[in-house]
Amino acid sequence: MFAWRPRPVEITERLNDTSFEPAHAAYYDGKSGDWLRLLLQARVDFLSIWRPADFTERVTATRVLGRQIVLVNAPDLIRQVVVKRHENYERKSPQMRRALEYLLGDGLFISDGETWKQRRALVNDIVHTNRVPSFGPVMEKTAGELVERWRGMPDGANVNVLHEMAGLTAEIISRSVFGNNLGKESADAVTDSFTSYQSLIDSINLGYFIGFDEGLPVLRTPSLRRSVKRIHRIIDKVVEDHLAGSGDHNSMVELLIRRQERSPELKLDLVALRNEAATIFMAGHETTAATLTWAWYLLSRAGWAEQAVHEEIARVCGDRTPTIDDVPKLDYCRAVIEETLRLYPPVPILARQTKQADTIGDMPIEPASLVLIVPWLLHRTPSLFEDPHLFRPERFLDGRRPVPYSYIPFASGPRVCPGMNFGLTEAILCLAVLAQRFRVRVDAGHKVEPLCRLTLRPKGGLPVTLHRR
Ligand code: HEM
Repeated sequence: MFAWRPRPVEITERLNDTSFEPAHAAYYDGKSGDWLRLLLQARVDFLSIWRPADFTERVTATRVLGRQIVLVNAPDLIRQVVVKRHENYERKSPQMRRALEYLLGDGLFISDGETWKQRRALVNDIVHTNRVPSFGPVMEKTAGELVERWRGMPDGANVNVLHEMAGLTAEIISRSVFGNNLGKESADAVTDSFTSYQSLIDSINLGYFIGFDEGLPVLRTPSLRRSVKRIHRIIDKVVEDHLAGSGDHNSMVELLIRRQERSPELKLDLVALRNEAATIFMAGHETTAATLTWAWYLLSRAGWAEQAVHEEIARVCGDRTPTIDDVPKLDYCRAVIEETLRLYPPVPILARQTKQADTIGDMPIEPASLVLIVPWLLHRTPSLFEDPHLFRPERFLDGRRPVPYSYIPFASGPRVCPGMNFGLTEAILCLAVLAQRFRVRVDAGHKVEPLCRLTLRPKGGLPVTLHRR
């Protein structure tokens, strides 16, 4: 059929004694306007299709099979999309909705309109900043268990740190959402099924480009059905236990149920409760796992930053294990996580479907067009970040903050990530607990390649060796 095949992604990485430019795809050098080639390349890797001009132009539009696609890359225009005209752009892209609807139903992540408004208030309340300290013991205990497991391995042991971090954050969110009674077997089954679900769905819905405004349903293959059934069965059992009064009282499911009892007008039946629990579980673990994995890669190469992390942990905690109360004092660790989120935003693309015609900058926007805000591009825009490809945690130290709406790893506006403080606290705490006892080393010869699917991860994970400190 096609003589042309997507090219392999070319990666740039540069390291010297004082500066580190971590791995990123080289600029796209194909002809602009060649949308078929671009679309096929995007299916291989969405991060390898950007031309230098995409990093500097404020708003650009292209057309794929008649569908308007708009890229917005200027802070004031992003504010227009996510805040000022939020209602026109609150709708997730058909590819995102179609990819996740089978698993999450009308869960917050993909809902809009009235359902979203009602549920947003509910989920906000449950994962809100004020509640984060109550999940501190779960985070501390789970990170402590990983330290013990790593201690049981020989010094220099080989592990894939993406898998290790995925296990850690899945355990934390699973205990937080479902409580401690879930049991290891069910917790592992949920995590494995979520992982296989993600690998089975395709994030580009071609139906949308050939005229179906709502995209086309994802093909429900037998393996996809199996994953979904398994997840739903386990979550339903947890919810039923809680409804019968036998669940863990300090869990998010319990909070959801209590909120429903206080506000029956929310009409949260078993399916709605399951959808929200599954949404929080899904939204809350891969993102944090990806953040921690990228942080290990950056610290492993940038020895000066790793040293600063170690010195800070020793200064703040001495020899005792870091706790959630230490997090506000771990300024450098926080800066490392924030800079990691700039360079490798776990959600690298925010995609919306326009409801009504509008104008962004001087660009006319059509109804049902696809509006893209790409944190990956925005965070590497030279006019907003000096030497944007370099790893420099100092950008976030001593009260320095990026220009508003130029740094959006958690999105912004009414649809901002409600778990932002949960995720930040968890990442800083886990980094501190593990870095206090271990150095994580990525082999000098290993080629790290960012891969963009629903989240941004290193392709093939990140093979490392663990060294006791
Ligand atoms: C470092 C960690 C995290 C990052 C970078 C992150 C990032 C994001 C982003 C960018 C969005 C918006 C997506 C979009 O608009 O398309 C989002 C939404 C969401 N996140 Fe997070 N997140 C993180 C951790 C968490 C955690 C720990 C939880 C729960 C405890 C959570 C729960 C959610 C939920 C429920 C939504 C949907 C909100 C809505 O649509 O109104 N996230 N997250």
